[in-house]
Amino acid sequence: MSDKVYIFDTTLRDGEQSPGATMNISEKINMARQLEKLGVDIIEAGFPAASNGDFEAVKTIAQSVDNIQVAGLSRAVLSDIDRAWEAVRYAKNPRIHTFIATSDIHMKHKFNKEPDEILEMARKAVRHAASLTPNVEFSAEDASRSRWDFLVSVVEAVIDEGATTINIPDTVGYAQPGEFGELIRYLIKNVSNSSKAIFSVHCHNDLGLGVANTLEAIKAGARQAEVTLCGIGERAGNAALEEVVMALHTRKDYYDIDTSVHTEQLFPSCRRLSSTIGQPLSPYKAIVGANAFAHESGIHQDGMIKNRQTYEIMTPESIGKKGTSIVIGKHSGRNALGTKLKEMGYDLNDEQIADVFDAVKSLADKKEDIYDEDVEALVLEVAYRIHDLFKVKDLSVFSGTSGVPPHAAVILQDFRNDESNPVEIKDVGFGEGPINAVFSTINSLVGIEPELGLYSVNAVTGGADAQGAVTVHISENGLKSIGRGSDEDIIVASAKAYINAINRLERIKQEKKNA
Ligand code: KIV
Ligand code: ZN
Repeated sequence: MSDKVYIFDTTLRDGEQSPGATMNISEKINMARQLEKLGVDIIEAGFPAASNGDFEAVKTIAQSVDNIQVAGLSRAVLSDIDRAWEAVRYAKNPRIHTFIATSDIHMKHKFNKEPDEILEMARKAVRHAASLTPNVEFSAEDASRSRWDFLVSVVEAVIDEGATTINIPDTVGYAQPGEFGELIRYLIKNVSNSSKAIFSVHCHNDLGLGVANTLEAIKAGARQAEVTLCGIGERAGNAALEEVVMALHTRKDYYDIDTSVHTEQLFPSCRRLSSTIGQPLSPYKAIVGANAFAHESGIHQDGMIKNRQTYEIMTPESIGKKGTSIVIGKHSGRNALGTKLKEMGYDLNDEQIADVFDAVKSLADKKEDIYDEDVEALVLEVAYRIHDLFKVKDLSVFSGTSGVPPHAAVILQDFRNDESNPVEIKDVGFGEGPINAVFSTINSLVGIEPELGLYSVNAVTGGADAQGAVTVHISENGLKSIGRGSDEDIIVASAKAYINAINRLERIKQEKKNA
């Protein structure tokens, strides 16, 4: 059996479909390139039949990466498979990933079909996919709650039809490690043609066992792990890529298995995801949380001084966590910034570098030290923006305890009629607090009144002059959108995030209308 586990990253599919993790197309391409740099073997770029937006994203990602396989998900439905193929075929090494549920509860309640009919659908789907590409993955959704003998029949049939990867998902995070390992061992032993396929696992984290189940399955012979950065995904998420990889790496003595992941790219990748989706890493997050390498108690600190191995089973350097470095100052030039951005893994064109340069310069006027994290926040804010309908031009806010209700004066640039020649629109409005005053003034200027869901502010770096990164979720008539903005003034950051959410919402409405 191979001593390498293939790492299949589904951050852009299972991860992206979870609440609050939506990314626009340029953010997805940027993440895909980072995943390539991280050294994963396969990325699942999306679910092309889900929407035109998903289709375009998968197709563009397929065209944008070179050294990794690109998978597109599809139901076991021929038209879905065609759509997935249409999107991934542009990749150097494309994969079709098709799935159907095999548990009694799913077959009865989702499909109202008998097991034989499901088996036939799986056969047909894989036969069709294999007529398009030799690289076909089949997933038996809810495998961990399926009857083992039925799973054997389905897996045998789809391998016969040409599936080269068999994925066994613990879709609802129900399995226990010992039991899940046993299932994988049972399938590899009892499926007569199992040697013709790679067995894969995809473990959800509902009981907090996603990583444990994945590792147990690898011990039992699985040679592909489906994971996501920071464990994002449906409900409680998926097994976290960085945890699975570092367990295999740190305990090589126990597993004796390699991956192709460059572990020093783990922290930069997780940080990139966290800033892109505007969800901070918990300080206690294994491997990449702020406390993961912090030693607080005297006894621990003493041990660390004497020998780091007393309390450190891996080094911060091994996951790419270096001390924060000052990158750029008031007098740095555009070339220096361009080089720095390349080093940080951002492949930007001249126009994007110029935009980031202007933003860095204006930040340097207000903030003494500019760190990697500051530059990253600005890149995500200015370089990967969709075309804006509105931009915040000026803003002033009054709040306090004087008895006068909080109010805000807002000037926006309005690009609705002319992309290169905005008109200025301005208004003043009251609110319950300063942020509410800004948001309601913006509402009256753009003429919509979306519902505000989540609103969060996080410091981009430490220090009193740190930038604030704001994320807002808004919705209108069932359409949801997320906006992000950063600034050293958190009220300005909030206004930018809110406008960004509105720009995205307007785009979603437009896409819906066109579709
Ligand atoms: O959780 C699951 O079963 C899935 C499949 C589509 C692989 O995401
Ligand atoms: Zn899943």
